[in-house]
Amino acid sequence: MDDLYGVIGDPIAHSMSPAMHNAAFKDAGIQASYGRLHVSPGELPDAIRGIRALGLRGINVTVPHKTAVIPLLDEVDPLASSVGAVNTIVNRNGKLIGYNTDGLGYVEGLKKVLKGELSSKAILIIGAGGAAKAIYYTLASLGVRKIDLTNRSEQKAIDMIESCSFAVESDYCTLSEAGLNLQQYDVVIQTTSIGMFPKVEESPLKIGAVKNGAVFSDIIYNPIRTSFLKQAQQNGAIIQNGMDMFIYQGALAFRKWTGIIPNTELMKKVVLKQLG
Ligand code: ATR
Repeated sequence: MDDLYGVIGDPIAHSMSPAMHNAAFKDAGIQASYGRLHVSPGELPDAIRGIRALGLRGINVTVPHKTAVIPLLDEVDPLASSVGAVNTIVNRNGKLIGYNTDGLGYVEGLKKVLKGELSSKAILIIGAGGAAKAIYYTLASLGVRKIDLTNRSEQKAIDMIESCSFAVESDYCTLSEAGLNLQQYDVVIQTTSIGMFPKVEESPLKIGAVKNGAVFSDIIYNPIRTSFLKQAQQNGAIIQNGMDMFIYQGALAFRKWTGIIPNTELMKKVVLKQLG
């Protein structure tokens, strides 16, 4: 029988992970099936016990379960534990181990467009939700020297800075201050949900002049270019949407489960086809 994998979430109907992973398994010659598994919050403990009982090999975890799943696992990787969110579970002979590949997936994608050493860069993160936290802590754990945060709710960003256990220089600034100081940054990362399909919304901050060679990235990939990315491009920035983060968080999960680095070009092709 095929090895079984899946993604749990609520809602889950539109997840593109099954198509992406099933194509990667086939390409790698692995007999496996990856399914979309709807799990409501009240069912989460039973669903996690079911992973052991049914012998599922690996699971991705998405909204709203990434934090609630932590106490239900046998072991949690230190980075996932400090982020407070798990997006990947590995079933090692009945022992469930949690990881977070979102932040590292973002970094893998960023490396494709960034010139020079990541650790020497000055970075601005817009937003202070779950995705921002995964990216912020991962960048800090990799030794990035300067990572500032801006967010609509000031306290959430300040709490995130104060609870970061990795050595990094970080300051909070308001969205309007950030807009005036964009030239300081080599990388600006938009992590809020502003502009995500089906809404058409303005960028969370107004983009003027940017640093020469700066990368502006948005973790949204539907639409392919948010208003934030359009404005950044008009001002001469190198832009990147969230497609690579999505592909690489999946590729890193795939490697945790199988030990094999999957065909990321194929995975991207499959996701682009699904997006239509
Ligand atoms: P995720 O897990 O995807 O990061 P989240 O935890 O709900 O989602 O975080 C959403 C982020 O988008 C937050 O930074 C939120 O700002 P607040 O902390 O002030 O709530 C931001 N966000 C969402 N809608 C926004 C809006 N209309 N204007 C400004 N920021 C917004």
